[in-house]
Amino acid sequence: MSHADRYLMAGVMGWPVMHSRSPKIHNYWFAKYGLAGTYVPLAISPEGLRAALRALPALGFSGCNLTIPHKEAAFEAVDRVDPLARRIGAINCVVVAPDGSLDGRNTDGFGYIESIREGHPGWRADAGPIVVIGAGGGARAVLVSLADQGAKEIRLVNRSPARAQALVQEFGAPIKAIAWNDRHAALDGAAMLVNTTSQGMAGQSPLDLSLDALPPAALVSDIIYIPRETPLLTAARQRGNRTVNGLGMLLHQARPAFHAWFGVMPEVTAELRAMIDATI
Ligand SMILES: NC(=O)c1ccc[n+]([C@@H]2O[C@H](COP(=O)([O-])OP(=O)(O)OC[C@H]3O[C@@H](n4cnc5c(N)ncnc54)[C@H](OP(=O)(O)O)[C@@H]3O)[C@@H](O)[C@H]2O)c1
Repeated sequence: MSHADRYLMAGVMGWPVMHSRSPKIHNYWFAKYGLAGTYVPLAISPEGLRAALRALPALGFSGCNLTIPHKEAAFEAVDRVDPLARRIGAINCVVVAPDGSLDGRNTDGFGYIESIREGHPGWRADAGPIVVIGAGGGARAVLVSLADQGAKEIRLVNRSPARAQALVQEFGAPIKAIAWNDRHAALDGAAMLVNTTSQGMAGQSPLDLSLDALPPAALVSDIIYIPRETPLLTAARQRGNRTVNGLGMLLHQARPAFHAWFGVMPEVTAELRAMIDATI
């Protein structure tokens, strides 16, 4: 059966309550591309994940996104995991194959790189040292995608040193760990600074980082999108650095998923961005 012959279904599985913006994004694209379909939020408990994923083919779903707490547990529940998702260590997208088997993928790294290129088409990962703050789940997608884009030196700074060291062990060159106390000086000569910690998110303290040593030409990116402009991005903008917030990553990670499920590579239009921005 082709896409045109059936009602298209996909969803996002999370637990317990989801504040996912994915339904708005995908349902916007169904309307924009004239496809008959629906994308729904599905509250699935950790115990129910396997059964819920296995039910997707019978329910007529083309696939689903996964959010907290399912991104790691899904490794055991799908039939194949692509190499990129394995390296990132998380599955955020499941695709139902024609025979009903399940593919696990990760589109966060794609979303991150596209979000940088959208605002700065000339950006290159090999333009100079990149400082990444944070070593959690978000950092893994950022680190893998920057390395794949050709970054030559990534200075990884995390409050808990063991976590940064573990990522250096796992990913190897070009990543090296820098002590938390040396984070301010680590900005010296950097072409790019990325915050992947939760510091600066609404309800959290700002990231404790002095930008004094950061070159004025450096690009500053924060994967947080609530608020739109974190204290880090405000400080960077005020001293003349170019900035990118986390909204683009959220929007662009959805594109390859929609393409894999429904055969159309959708665009992040100004209208879509404004619609999602209005929810923040
Ligand atoms: N735009 C997007 O699409 C997107 C995608 C993914 C994540 N995000 C955002 O990225 C942020 C991090 O998410 P995550 O999933 O990576 O979280 P996570 O796995 O829990 O990692 C949290 C990171 O923040 C650090 N951290 C927490 N409190 C800190 C403090 N007081 N001082 C210094 N560092 C601190 C942690 O350091 P320790 O190791 O020392 O605890 C760790 O590196 C969230 O705001 C999330 O919304 C955005």
